[in-house]
Amino acid sequence: MSVEKLSWEYKGFTLPLDVTKEILDVLPNFKIRDDDIVVASFPKTGTHWLRGIVAKILQAAGKIDSSADSLIDAGPLEIRTPTATQPGYLTQADMPSPRFVVTHLPIQLAPLGISKPQNKVKILVPMRNPKDTAVSLFHFGKKILKLMGVTDDVQWEEFAHNFMKGKVAYGPFEDHVLGWWQMRDDRHFLFLKYEDMKKDLLSAVKTIVAFLEVDLDESTIKGIAEASTFNNMKVDLDNSKVAETQAIARKGIIGDWKNMFTPEQSKAFDNCYEEKFSGTDFAFDFE
Ligand code: A3P
Repeated sequence: MSVEKLSWEYKGFTLPLDVTKEILDVLPNFKIRDDDIVVASFPKTGTHWLRGIVAKILQAAGKIDSSADSLIDAGPLEIRTPTATQPGYLTQADMPSPRFVVTHLPIQLAPLGISKPQNKVKILVPMRNPKDTAVSLFHFGKKILKLMGVTDDVQWEEFAHNFMKGKVAYGPFEDHVLGWWQMRDDRHFLFLKYEDMKKDLLSAVKTIVAFLEVDLDESTIKGIAEASTFNNMKVDLDNSKVAETQAIARKGIIGDWKNMFTPEQSKAFDNCYEEKFSGTDFAFDFE
């Protein structure tokens, strides 16, 4: 199978072929529970990182134990990952609470319980600069294609171009990010920048603890931050039973884009995203 045939267009977004129209038709009514903790993210912006931090917080607070079924990575709601037997939403439907629910869908296509949340549901949205996100997605995509048995190789130059054009999984990036960003003043949401988390993980963990309304002492919070550094979390991710999860922990740094972008590509991204985010109150950090 060739790379071009692995996605399709729906309502202005590029989606992986596994995210079918049938799934998108039923997902708006997927039942979100009051005690669900959701990560709604553009891929490669820190989904597993947040998920891991939330799990450690809930464990420390005694809300789940370390062998809890809810810790199983069901994958995003909308997708049947290459090694799964069914889409995430079917796996999630039978899972005990509290559940970790992940979606990469744009807000327009997400379950209504996430796009118009009620009661106590908590939704975390990681955000990351488009250059590092593109590099991360490029490398991850290559590994996933291998798992899918796709032999064609993707070249970085073409991928970077497609990313800016919105022609990569879940693109356009700007429509995805700005769609969720509309919810920034809604109390059900917490937005976290990947770069801020890298620069001050302890503060990020404190913010998440407060958002989840759990009571933990300072030394426990420090321990969670320490266990959530890239090197420490990589051990768990690499040892996951899920093959896709083993492909997640790569470099975990800000600025890896400098190893991939030519000066011309960097300028093109700057021009593209300065224009697309101008007039919004959103700004990315690239360093
Ligand atoms: P890189 O490919 O740049 O290394 P997602 O979970 O949304 O798919 O995001 C994956 C990215 O988050 C990868 O980025 C991965 O290395 C990074 N990541 C995972 N855990 C991390 C951690 N504890 N600290 C920093 N980055 C982490």
